[in-house]
Amino acid sequence: MKGRLKDKVAIVTGSGANIGEACVKAMAAEGAGVVVADINREGAERVAGEINANGGRAMARYVDLLDENSVKNLVKDTLEHFGRIDILHNNAANTQAAQMAADAGITDLECSVWDAAFAVNARGTMLMTKHCVPAMIEAGGGSIINTSSGVSILGDIFTPAYSASKGAVNSFTRNTATQYGKKNIRCNALLPGLILTDLSRSMVPEEQLAMLEKHTLLPRLGNPDDIARMVVFLASDEASFVTGQILAVDGGISTHQPFVGDVLQSMA
Ligand SMILES: NC(=O)c1ccc[n+]([C@@H]2O[C@H](COP(=O)([O-])OP(=O)(O)OC[C@H]3O[C@@H](n4cnc5c(N)ncnc54)[C@H](O)[C@@H]3O)[C@@H](O)[C@H]2O)c1
Repeated sequence: MKGRLKDKVAIVTGSGANIGEACVKAMAAEGAGVVVADINREGAERVAGEINANGGRAMARYVDLLDENSVKNLVKDTLEHFGRIDILHNNAANTQAAQMAADAGITDLECSVWDAAFAVNARGTMLMTKHCVPAMIEAGGGSIINTSSGVSILGDIFTPAYSASKGAVNSFTRNTATQYGKKNIRCNALLPGLILTDLSRSMVPEEQLAMLEKHTLLPRLGNPDDIARMVVFLASDEASFVTGQILAVDGGISTHQPFVGDVLQSMA
């Protein structure tokens, strides 16, 4: 189905690779004009170039979500180029290997590591929302999609700062939906389970992938297109009565009793 986002304009943060790349390409394929926004200039330019080469409408823009002026410039450039903003996908996160490695035992956790997780994941989401909402009001409404994570609602032995920052994203999602619903702005969050990308494959050992697959109710792990399809749905008018929701896209891994994985494996 094509054309579901015809005449709409979308900004996707962190879309120069991996999940964000799949999401921005899927929105462009549905007819949206898209801004490929990333601190990774090279990635953003590659993705925008590929979209334009396939007949889409894309613009690459550098943004550093740590810097409010950089966010303001992204929004200004988008309005100058496309004239409106209908969709904001807050996908970027601080997933740098050194950050994730240092985000471990709570008694050893450095405040700088905690702050670095919140600065991009939560504060960056807030800044993008703050500066895009006025343009959405001007356009008569909009859809904001925040990429959170399954670990925002489940305890884990790793990444307490990342998990807590994504919990903040969930709360902020409900606040945004509440404050701007009457302006016809919807805001929802996604909770991806493990999504197979070059990055996650390099960070997650084989045994852990096998364990995750065992506990996933469906017969496979997730891929970036699984997230992109949900993002397109939430961005589109098909989801026009869906707001304030925290939706898992995880093959069902977060929905069942811990012993179920073993039972499923014995039935496979
Ligand atoms: N891959 C998974 O298994 C998984 C699972 C749950 C949630 N998620 C979430 O999905 C989203 C995408 O993850 P991914 O796996 O594609 O990882 P990724 O590292 O490829 O994507 C993050 C993007 O954010 C950008 N970014 C980082 N800091 C930035 C800053 N200061 N300003 C602007 N951009 C910045 C990076 O350059 C990168 O392109 C993230 O929010 C992540 O937390 C991923």
